[in-house]
Amino acid sequence: ITLAYEVIEVRTEADKVGVITLNRPKQLNALNSQLMDELGDALKAFDADEKIGCIIITGSEKAFAAGADITAMAKFSFADAYKGDFITRNWETIRTIRKPVIAAVSGFALGGGCELAMMCDFIIAADNAKFGQPEIKLGVIPGAGGTQRLPRAVGKAKAMDLALTGRMMDAQEAERSGLVSRVVPLDKLMEETLGAALQISDFSQIAVMAAKESVNRAFEGTLADGVMFERRLFHSLFATSDQKEGMDAFVNKRKAVFTHQ
Ligand code: HXC
Repeated sequence: ITLAYEVIEVRTEADKVGVITLNRPKQLNALNSQLMDELGDALKAFDADEKIGCIIITGSEKAFAAGADITAMAKFSFADAYKGDFITRNWETIRTIRKPVIAAVSGFALGGGCELAMMCDFIIAADNAKFGQPEIKLGVIPGAGGTQRLPRAVGKAKAMDLALTGRMMDAQEAERSGLVSRVVPLDKLMEETLGAALQISDFSQIAVMAAKESVNRAFEGTLADGVMFERRLFHSLFATSDQKEGMDAFVNKRKAVFTHQ
């Protein structure tokens, strides 16, 4: 695991939230192999850290990420693209993270940047956020899940519109269509996201991981299987101390203190 990061910055908040800031400001945080490697390492390190209950990925005010690095890809042959698997080589790493990952998006989230945000568990957007899949303008198509995750998030009509015209949608449209969970003023973005992350971190980590796993099930397989998966997970949580603590605290009108056991 890399500890010296060059194109991301990593910090913790209150010892329980991991914050990863994409940091290639001159390229509007365009994604390249180094950035994806560092991001993967940082995510895995936070996931393995018992004290961390939630992870935030964010960018700069101007850009969450303006896509895959076009300069790096411009001269690729098919063989380069296929064998190199540029930026998607370790893309699924994000999906293996078991703690919640929130995207705090301000500015541009385009192409691979929009796809990266959609890989997170939910997106909180600043009012200046702009989402889009402009790959069509470059003579290609989204290659990191855009044609699959966008329709699941916003429906076919809007996903087609965005993928075929390459237009951007603003934060309000993104919220209206279900891509983002909240829109907040730009200067409140980190405060709001951190608030959510701290709240999540104080809950039972086991219950949080189970909730994440179960919601993700809603996107794969059938409703009947998903509901049964959820029910069995729900039942299994009665084996945890955290369930005893959570319910006892409610009954006795006090604040629960979870030990993640
Ligand atoms: C490399 C990029 C970049 C990118 C911006 N820059 N986006 N470099 N790759 N994706 C660089 C610009 O070249 C410029 O460098 C600097 O960042 C500032 O950008 P400007 O264009 O000057 O800023 P502005 O006029 O404000 O326009 C912002 C923008 C525009 C609308 C976001 O930069 C833009 O359209 N970018 C490309 C967006 C895009 O097509 N993304 C999809 C990429 S394909 P200099 O050196 O001139 O200062 C993709 C595929 C994913 O993501 C699937 C992979 C498997």
